Amino acid sequence: RFKGLCCSYEAIQKTAEFIRSRTTLNPTVGIICGSGLGKLASAVKNPQLIKYEDIPNFPRTNVVGHEGNLIFGTLGGKSVMVMQGRFHLYEGYGNEAIIIPIRLMKILGVETILVSNAAGGLNRNLKLGDLVIIRDHISFPGLALKNVLIGPNDERFGTRFVATSDAYDVKLRRAFQRIVQQQGHSNIVHEGVYVHVGGPTYESPAENRMLMLMGADVVGMSTVPEVIVARHAGIRVFAISLVTNVSVLSEETTEKANHQEVLDVATTRTELLSNLFTELIKQT
Ligand code: HPA
Repeated sequence: RFKGLCCSYEAIQKTAEFIRSRTTLNPTVGIICGSGLGKLASAVKNPQLIKYEDIPNFPRTNVVGHEGNLIFGTLGGKSVMVMQGRFHLYEGYGNEAIIIPIRLMKILGVETILVSNAAGGLNRNLKLGDLVIIRDHISFPGLALKNVLIGPNDERFGTRFVATSDAYDVKLRRAFQRIVQQQGHSNIVHEGVYVHVGGPTYESPAENRMLMLMGADVVGMSTVPEVIVARHAGIRVFAISLVTNVSVLSEETTEKANHQEVLDVATTRTELLSNLFTELIKQT
């Protein structure tokens, strides 16, 4: 399943050629949907759907709640490309599974990506269903020689050493904040730091206490690798977390994080998030 994937420029160009043979759209915006947020794709007008399994040199997804389709169409008046279902390193994929879709977007002409994820709320001000615009990240795997860009660097995609200080585009964050204000959702939308952990276990209370002390507001198992590959390729990034569970900080707490709760909470916010994304795309 994971064998034979190749993230060289030439290999991804072949993947892009296949995509171009299946759609005439030239997407400028890419969207990556997190757990339970795949329905965001149903807002896309005139959708053309391509199954991951039909795409040469492309990984496949196998997590419940993550469908596996690339969807091309229009949203907010722009041509978009939606990844309905993403790849996590905890599934056993190599970095290729993260790299190929993002570099495919780059080759197809995508300039901006919008990313959503489900996350645990570490910050005690966060409630179930809140949205947290990601302003910055802490990458545990990244700091520990598991950075997605480790390996030979192909300058055709980007430079060897990539700054991450401006990873989450400030203009897109401000634009999103304005939209949120105009629509009257300021009470549930915050800005914060996302910490990327490897998973697939949810964090222990001691781990959550540590992550909080480090300055993280939300915790999840995705997004950062994709953002890093996108920034390497010069793609602008907007990313947002949906708080699907309140992180457990005490060993005496009886509530536990679980995937079903994550999916259930995500479902309640799919429509709002797709409206907000649509507005943001209009302004990109
Ligand atoms: N931790 C890590 N990943 C997650 C969580 C969490 O609490 N909730 C949803 N994804």
